[in-house]
Amino acid sequence: MNNRPIGVFDSGSGGLSTVRALSRLLPREEVLYLGDTARMPYGGRTPEEIALFSREITDFLLRKDCKAVIAACGTISSNYPGLSSLPVPAFNVIDASAKAAAGATKNGKIGLAATDATIKSGAFARAIERESGKPVSAVACSLLAGLIESGADFNNPRLLDSISCYTDPFLRAGVDTVVLGCTHYPLIAPTFRQLLGEGVTLIDSGAEAAKAAAAYLTEHDLLRGAPRERDHFYFTANPAETARRARLFLAGRDIRPETELLPLGELTGGSV
Ligand code: DGL
Repeated sequence: MNNRPIGVFDSGSGGLSTVRALSRLLPREEVLYLGDTARMPYGGRTPEEIALFSREITDFLLRKDCKAVIAACGTISSNYPGLSSLPVPAFNVIDASAKAAAGATKNGKIGLAATDATIKSGAFARAIERESGKPVSAVACSLLAGLIESGADFNNPRLLDSISCYTDPFLRAGVDTVVLGCTHYPLIAPTFRQLLGEGVTLIDSGAEAAKAAAAYLTEHDLLRGAPRERDHFYFTANPAETARRARLFLAGRDIRPETELLPLGELTGGSV
């Protein structure tokens, strides 16, 4: 038994798709969420920057006594090798999604939609190829995470036009499974579905990470003994607006009372 919180982090609000899945699987658990909205998007950054920012965030989560951490971000999972050497159990979005995709495909043709930095790193595509034994169609959806963070959602008709250039290569390749390899994308899963057709299975990478973490914590007797008191949501910029929009990611849940600004200096030790 362990009553400490589970740390979940992302460059912005995409990782809330992991929180949503985690809260359904483990409703008694407390989550400490950090979205680095001041420095988002990470997808256009260098591997060195992503690793440095991620280290700052995991140091913060460890200072907050998290019993486990989930990198609820494809970009971080692909560019932060330090995740696997933390002193607490740590989960990325890659391993479980790669397994889920390999299990879901019938024709062996899998697509990966993710940020530039994820696609450039190659780690996510390699993991899927290892699991499935087949080459992956990987598409960098360069502007998508930023668009979603700044308010585009699946009700927006213009989104359909702006993302068809990302889904066309999947249609040409004949994939039957697409990994939404950025945790922002599940928010617009209906748009992906509309463009790809009902026959294509979408893998929600954030939810897959939550399932893997839940299974591990359950198996290792690391769950809370007491019911959840409250979660904590920290954002490094625009906490009020981000918490308001978080309802979209969290099936209507209002996290405003549990949300705070985390000044960037608290992550960087003063140098911003
Ligand atoms: N949710 C992040 C991911 O999964 C978005 C990355 C970004 O900030 O560009 O990759």
